[in-house]
Parts: sequence; structure tokens; C-alpha cells
Amino acid sequence: MTIETIIIHKSDPTPIYKQIAKQICDLIEQGVLVANQKLPTHRWLADKLDVTVGTITRSYAEVERKGFVEARVGAGTYVTDTQKDSWVFEAEVTDNNECNFGYNIPPTLDRSPFLEKAMTQLMSRPQQLNQLMLYQKPAGIDAHRERVTRWLKNKGFNVDAQRMLFSSGAQHGLQIVLDTFARAGDTLLVEKLTYPGVISLAKQKQLTLKSVDMDEQGIVPDALEAACRQYQTRFIYLTPTLQNPTTAIMSLERRRAILKICKKHDIYVIEDDVNGVLAENAPPALINLDSERVIHLGAFSKYLAPGLRVGYLYAPQALYPRLVMTLQNHSWMISPLLTALACELLHNGDAERCLATIRLEMARRLNATLSELGALDINHQPGCFHVWLRLPEHWRLSDFVAAAQAQNIIVKSAELFTPPGGHVVPAVRLSLSSPSSIAQLERGVRTLNQLIISNPVDEFTL
Ligand SMILES: Cc1ncc(COP(=O)(O)O)c(C=O)c1O
Repeated sequence: MTIETIIIHKSDPTPIYKQIAKQICDLIEQGVLVANQKLPTHRWLADKLDVTVGTITRSYAEVERKGFVEARVGAGTYVTDTQKDSWVFEAEVTDNNECNFGYNIPPTLDRSPFLEKAMTQLMSRPQQLNQLMLYQKPAGIDAHRERVTRWLKNKGFNVDAQRMLFSSGAQHGLQIVLDTFARAGDTLLVEKLTYPGVISLAKQKQLTLKSVDMDEQGIVPDALEAACRQYQTRFIYLTPTLQNPTTAIMSLERRRAILKICKKHDIYVIEDDVNGVLAENAPPALINLDSERVIHLGAFSKYLAPGLRVGYLYAPQALYPRLVMTLQNHSWMISPLLTALACELLHNGDAERCLATIRLEMARRLNATLSELGALDINHQPGCFHVWLRLPEHWRLSDFVAAAQAQNIIVKSAELFTPPGGHVVPAVRLSLSSPSSIAQLERGVRTLNQLIISNPVDEFTL
């Protein structure tokens, strides 16, 4: 079949424009119509199929809504090129000498084309738009929860939409959990080096953090066993995949060992998996291994856009209603408009393309980094936004951070990741995703390498 031989069944109750739209989509899926191919003009196709021009206009609009074609102003309608790398990384910053390795943000990319497309798709459904302006169930619109859950299931997560609620990002997910279950004076177990957001929340909520020793795979089972015996606690906060800041990924065996100990001591695990989808071939998430013991936190911040502020939380049945109540107390619900936007991006494939672009860019950035710093004591993982660099003995941590800053290079000291009272190791986190271009990153790692092999200027005091 070709576009001119589309068949219209007059006896079919499906509107004619939908019949045509469906067959155009089929032709694209079958590869008969290929990427960037121009569709015939409305009039030409209307004559061929013996329908009105208005019918073809509606058909094309329907096909566009589904993301199969795009109307280019003044040029006609073209089959969408789904392989196209439509997000170019921002132009290099040449007038700024600073290289900022400070933030775990997705590498700079122009998101406006995919936002425009998703918003246009949303706007083409006015009835739904009006719906989004109303109060909804606090956990989120069912269809949105199902959409996100389906996407995660495709990625290997064993999660249930009935136990999901939206949050304003993973940090907010963590706040929901701690607001629900932790009271001032309670103890929370964390990794020896951990995400600064949990340290800050714990401080504000007057929780005591107790750190558990780590090795190259994250928390050590024996150390966890000892901590569970020593401290009275009901929760441990963990990042099993692409740990922040050490990049560690727990093996499957380690995951099972940790969960076994938690079960024995009746401790719930708060699994922060904000980076989980970035990793390729990571072992199953903890929630897959014990869905009644794990609260799973994730977000679209790292593989779509942190500014979207859409995250998700999956919880054991026994805890779920109380978590929903906390969300309701915080803000009734997360903006349905934002969750709709995230769902549109999942639905039309742009989220997936964005993730692929980010992974590709991170691979290039990691290569560039290792070609300068690869001989040093450095932890790294494919897909991870950051690396963890241990300093040679001749550098004191604070001197190194200050010396880098004096050369306009921002790095994050291990101090920021160390829970109160913990021993600060001489290491820094470099967020490779943070510099605004590869050229800037290359300049930064070159300067850092020269700095590391040089000797600090010694100062002494009386
Ligand atoms: C481990 C970890 N959890 C949570 C967050 C915060 O994520 P969000 O922006 O979705 O709140 C970050 C941000 O860097 C992070 O590294």
C-alpha cells in the first residue's frame, strides 16, 4: 500500500479522517514512508482519496499529534526523523575561563524543540488541558502514574502504579518519607559518604545520621549488621546505583545481602535511584528484590530536565497511604500540568531520545576526562555524571579545593558528602556533566592534572 492507495471503508463507524490517519501511521511504521519524506499536499491527497481537503487536514493533525510527522512552517508536512539528534549541545563558552565541575546536572542541551512539541501536543487536546487545571487525586492522575510505571517497567523496574505517587523530584520524595516517618531525635542510617541533600534534610529535622562503612560496592554488609545492632532505627537511606559521590554500583549479591540484613532487623530501605536509569546494565533495583521493604525514589531530573521537577515514589503497601497523606499535607498534589508534560515526553519517545543523547555526551566527557586523569586514583562508571578523585598524599583537601578555585575550577570537597562527625577523606567529586562544553571540560581536567602533579605551596604557622 502507498499513501495514494489508502482504503476508506464507508461502512466503518470510525471517522474517515481517523481511518486515513491510522493508515498513514502504519505506512510510517512499516517504513513505506521514511524519515524526512514530505507528505503530499492536502489538496492532492484529498483528490486522490476522493475526500474533502478538511478531512486530510484533520488526518495530518492526528498523525502529527501522535508524533509521526511534523508540520514545518511554509514547507509542508514531513515524516519525523526519530533518529535525528535534535538537541545540539550549547555553543562553547569561550569568553569565560571558569570550569565548573560542581553540579550533577544533565549536560547542557537545547530542550526547547522537544518542549515545544510536547506542549503543542498537549494543547491540541483542550478538554484534557482543562482537566489538568482541576484538583486531582493527591498521588497523581491514574493515567499518568500508569504511563510512568509502564516506562519504568520497560526499563526493567518491577513497580506497581497503585503504589506510586508523584513528587517534585527525588529530593522532595525523600522529604515526604522523612516527614512521614522520622521525628526529631530519630536515627537514620546512611552511607559513609552520602548525598548532601539527605544531610541537609536530617539537620533541619534534627535527625541523627549514623554512617555505615562502604567499599567499592557501597555499604558493607558486616558494617550494616553492626550498625543495626548498635542503633535503634527503622530506616536506611541508600543509593545502590551510581552512588553520589563514589559512583559505586552494588552487585546483585550485595543487594541481596543488604536486604536480608534489613529484613532481619525490620528496617525499611529508602532507595534513592535518581541516577538508576542512567546506568547501563546495572543489577535490578532494590525494589525489584523486596517490594515490601523498599521505598523507591526516582525523578526525571537527571535524564530529562531538573527544571521539570517531576519525580516519583513507589512504596510498600503498608506505608503507602501515610506517604500520600504527607504529600497532600505538603501541596495536595504535584502540578498535573507538569506530570502531563513528562508523560507526553515519555509517550512521544523524546524522553528516550533525550536519555540517549545524554548518555552519548557523558561517554565523550568521560573519555576526555580519563585521557587526562586516568592514571590517578579515580572512580568512574559509564553513564555517571560524576567521578570521584582521591588526592595524592602531598595535597591537603582544603588546599587543593582552594588551589583549583584560584584557577577558576570548581570542584566539590569530600567534606560536603560526609555526615556530621564523620572522617573526611581527601577526595573531590567532579561533575563531568556540569561544564557547559567538552572544550571547557578538557581545559578543566588538564589544569586539574597539572595541579595534582605539582607540589602545593607549603605554608606554616607559629
Ligand atoms: C543522590 C541524589 N538524590 C537526589 C537528588 C535530587 O534530585 P531531584 O533534582 O530530582 O530532586 C540528587 C541530585 O543531584 C542526587 O544526587
